[in-house]
Amino acid sequence: MTNIMSHAGMHPVITGKEALNAFGTFLNDNKDKYSRIFVLCDENTIGKCFPVIQHFFAEAVHKIVIPAGERNKNIHSCVRVWEHMHQSGGDRNSLLINLGGGMITDLGGFAAATYLRGIKYLNIPTSLLGMVDASTGGKTGIDLGSYKNTIGTFTFPEIVFIDPLFLDTLPYRYLKDGIAEMLKHGLISSANLWTTLASEIKSNSATEISSLLKEKIILLLDESIRIKATVTSIDPFEKGIRKILNFGHTIGHAIETYSLRHNTDPLSHGEAVAAGMICETFLSGKLSGLSAMEQEEITSAISSFYPWCKMPEDSFHDILQLTRFDKKAENGKNHFTLLNKIGEAVTDRDCSSGLILESLSFYNNVYSLSPHS
Ligand SMILES: NC(=O)c1ccc[n+]([C@@H]2O[C@H](COP(=O)([O-])OP(=O)(O)OC[C@H]3O[C@@H](n4cnc5c(N)ncnc54)[C@H](O)[C@@H]3O)[C@@H](O)[C@H]2O)c1
Repeated sequence: MTNIMSHAGMHPVITGKEALNAFGTFLNDNKDKYSRIFVLCDENTIGKCFPVIQHFFAEAVHKIVIPAGERNKNIHSCVRVWEHMHQSGGDRNSLLINLGGGMITDLGGFAAATYLRGIKYLNIPTSLLGMVDASTGGKTGIDLGSYKNTIGTFTFPEIVFIDPLFLDTLPYRYLKDGIAEMLKHGLISSANLWTTLASEIKSNSATEISSLLKEKIILLLDESIRIKATVTSIDPFEKGIRKILNFGHTIGHAIETYSLRHNTDPLSHGEAVAAGMICETFLSGKLSGLSAMEQEEITSAISSFYPWCKMPEDSFHDILQLTRFDKKAENGKNHFTLLNKIGEAVTDRDCSSGLILESLSFYNNVYSLSPHS
């Protein structure tokens, strides 16, 4: 079945098992509109995902391949994309198709938004995180060194096609990353989504692939995508309600940046966000009235499923400093999105340095005391 989500002011999102056929129809219907079509992949999605869509292109398409991973979401990869388009005659009527996870849709969206002052692009997300979060809503960007998403634009894709078949080749570590953003969607806006997902992850081993879990997740995809689409259509430029999507991300991004700098195998985005959500659940108990029972429910579900990213005590001050570089910070002050109950978030909460440090200690204690550590 194919679902079309189209909220006022937002780009359309086509989801479901027929989404790729809808992509084929889109290409056919628009074949005279674009002078050149480029497909951006990383070194994994070119082999795992491009063959799935190749037959939709009547003529040879321009493929651009960049190295995979967050460390390559930078200006150098972006220059490669710009140069390739330039050398292949890309003009203002060109279309860029981003085929990959959130790293590709973020970077490709940014490259398109800035090439010749902006060309059209569309997204075909291939990771779960890309499907439920990164590919929709129009935030594009690259990292500045290890500072996450510091350079970027709000530029909306023409359309997004989301087909779960790409999840067949996605490594389990990255499937879990997407589940972290789905858990966040539940926590900020749907107690029902949270409860269903939390019971699924609690009954799954943290290290083994479960095809059953994947099937259950696919059933929940649309609800998660709809939460993101609804919020971003009301507030596309993050002046108000869109900030609720940042739950877990102020501390999560700081932990991710710290790990990109210090670890040879850095944490993935979802792992850092999972850690950030535990810290910010603690802050929600202190600052926004989240009950002790719900704090325990959230903390135990997340810590049973995600590995311990142990943070040495001497890293705490660096991580605290990194939260000050968060894009939501103003005059060096953080504005946190916190929970007042499961399914409901509040934005713009100030938080002292002392409490942020306490939340990091709390995180380490949760794991050191749990049977999974
Ligand atoms: N723009 C937004 O609103 C937004 C929201 C959330 C996250 N993000 C960004 O998204 C990024 C994380 O996204 P991600 O987790 O998709 O990372 P990613 O794009 O790096 O993908 C993770 C890994 O999976 C591989 N991969 C992707 N699809 C595959 C498939 N079908 N089969 C096999 N391998 C596949 C990739 O090559 C990569 O190695 C971060 O940069 C984060 O900042 C953006």
